[in-house]
Amino acid sequence: MAALIFVSIFVALGLGVVLVAMRGGPRGVRDTLARGRVQRLHFAEWAVTAAIVLFGLVVPALVLLGDQAAAGPGGTKLSAELKEGREAFAERCAQCHTLEDAGAVGRVGPDLDILAPTEGLTINAIEEGRARGMGQMPAQLLDGEEAEAVAKYIAEVAGR
Ligand code: HEC
Repeated sequence: MAALIFVSIFVALGLGVVLVAMRGGPRGVRDTLARGRVQRLHFAEWAVTAAIVLFGLVVPALVLLGDQAAAGPGGTKLSAELKEGREAFAERCAQCHTLEDAGAVGRVGPDLDILAPTEGLTINAIEEGRARGMGQMPAQLLDGEEAEAVAKYIAEVAGR
């Protein structure tokens, strides 16, 4: 919002400068005012005004709004805890597992985008480790809070 106000101020300034220039500069404006009657805007002035407002305000506003929409659920903007989860995942899990959101392409363990494990399953896998014939996953790679953050993070992003 602050950015939009900031941009608007400059758009207004730019618009003022352009319109003054089209009226023949400061002197032209002074003459107009001296005549005591502001002429109606010409078509060209309307066109320039519309173009400046469109490209100076409307387009940036749409881009800003689009950004915010992308930051919703499933987007890349994460809460502090989920970010912590992503970092821990990169450190401790990425070498063995694939997870697109974390940029992980490990092939030792199952692809977590496909498995999309619940929080509980991930916490259990971290606590107890896994060795069910599809390879080895050591137990206790992370503890307590970190394990929880990773589990939440995976549940949030897997398969998206
Ligand atoms: C050394 C490689 C390795 C690392 C590091 C590793 N895993 Fe695994 N993971 C595996 C393998 C192999 C399996 C499958 C084992 C089996 O079922 O036989 C597995 C299975 C899993 C499963 C599925 C469990 C189930 O019951 O289906 C989850 C969830 C999982 N890992 C999450 C994680 C998380 C989270 C981390 C990081 C804290 C991690 N893994 C780190 C190798 C690894």
